[in-house]
Amino acid sequence: MRTRKSDRDLTPEQRRRELIDLLGSAAARMPNAVAIPHDPPRKKPSKSGQTRLDVSAEMPLSVSTSKETDRPARCDCHAPACAQVDPAGRTARIFRGMDETIQALIDLHRGLARQGPGDARVSRQILAELPTMPAKPRIVDLGCGAGAGAMLLAEYFDAPVTAVDLAQPFLDDMMQRAGARGLADRVHPLACDFADLPLAPGSVDLLWSEGAAYNLTFAGALEKWRPLLAPRGVAGISELSWFTDDIPDEPRRYWEAAYPAMADEATNIAHAHAAGFDVLGTRRLPAQAWWDHYYNPLLERMAALSDPDATMQAVIAEVQAEIDLFRQYRACYGYTFYVLTSGA
Ligand SMILES: C[S@@+](CC[C@H](N)C(=O)[O-])C[C@H]1O[C@@H](n2cnc3c(N)ncnc32)[C@H](O)[C@@H]1O
Repeated sequence: MRTRKSDRDLTPEQRRRELIDLLGSAAARMPNAVAIPHDPPRKKPSKSGQTRLDVSAEMPLSVSTSKETDRPARCDCHAPACAQVDPAGRTARIFRGMDETIQALIDLHRGLARQGPGDARVSRQILAELPTMPAKPRIVDLGCGAGAGAMLLAEYFDAPVTAVDLAQPFLDDMMQRAGARGLADRVHPLACDFADLPLAPGSVDLLWSEGAAYNLTFAGALEKWRPLLAPRGVAGISELSWFTDDIPDEPRRYWEAAYPAMADEATNIAHAHAAGFDVLGTRRLPAQAWWDHYYNPLLERMAALSDPDATMQAVIAEVQAEIDLFRQYRACYGYTFYVLTSGA
């Protein structure tokens, strides 16, 4: 799921803020949307004096609702996109306008297993090659969408996973799926801006993120997320990357508009070093995975929509253009997993 750059020239930070405003309000308007249903986990004062949350294997970041109201008790997250819910369960979110396009994008992707390209087989290959991890690693999945990655990680490590996304509807889908897979006790949703995570520095053993880092730009995400990693911590982050220096005009123009910070793998590796990571390796997602696990289900969804309104029609046209571009130029770009470590 990707939002196109608008005509205006926005800085990455402005674009991120805009997305947060849009996603936050879109999520709040979804039926049965529950805003920020997480209890305050264990807290530690940070050096700056600001309270941070400590992810631990014994007590992962958890989501619960107050027994009296069956509504979120209170949000302890300080992220700007988070709705604050008072103890009586009344949301105090300030609605900042609704963006129909984001709503349509969420509607289009809701109910799908993935909101972006990914492949469980590739993820397991990467996990199998990681250095030895703690028996119960402290894991986060950032931009988890409906939780394909978070659930795989929870099963693979038999450990709790804190699954972060701004869009509450996706988190709701994730928890439904997690319940059906017997993972509800291991997958812990956190509705939050991943640029402003309420996690203690050094508190994460495995940081996972598929198809979401671009929202901060890859370099921006690495800079924000590096301090979260514990010593010998590992990150597996997938990022849209150029596979060639000889980029044809059509995809170059398309991605210059949609994602101006998109870079080749060598540049992204340099970004990782600049952010203080060591690079363990990279692995490309096969083009077939885009079709099998993302584009084909999305195409089916688009074909099945009866009587889409004008906004949805425009979103479908954009998605179709992205799919057509990939069909023709899949050798030129794709997702690469960057497997990184914080070192000793
Ligand atoms: C392309 S989808 C990928 C979802 C999932 N990782 C997958 O592979 O199916 C990107 C996700 O990032 C989320 N997202 C975007 N900006 C975010 C932010 N600032 N904080 C948290 N989540 C964000 C979106 O809501 C969306 O679910």
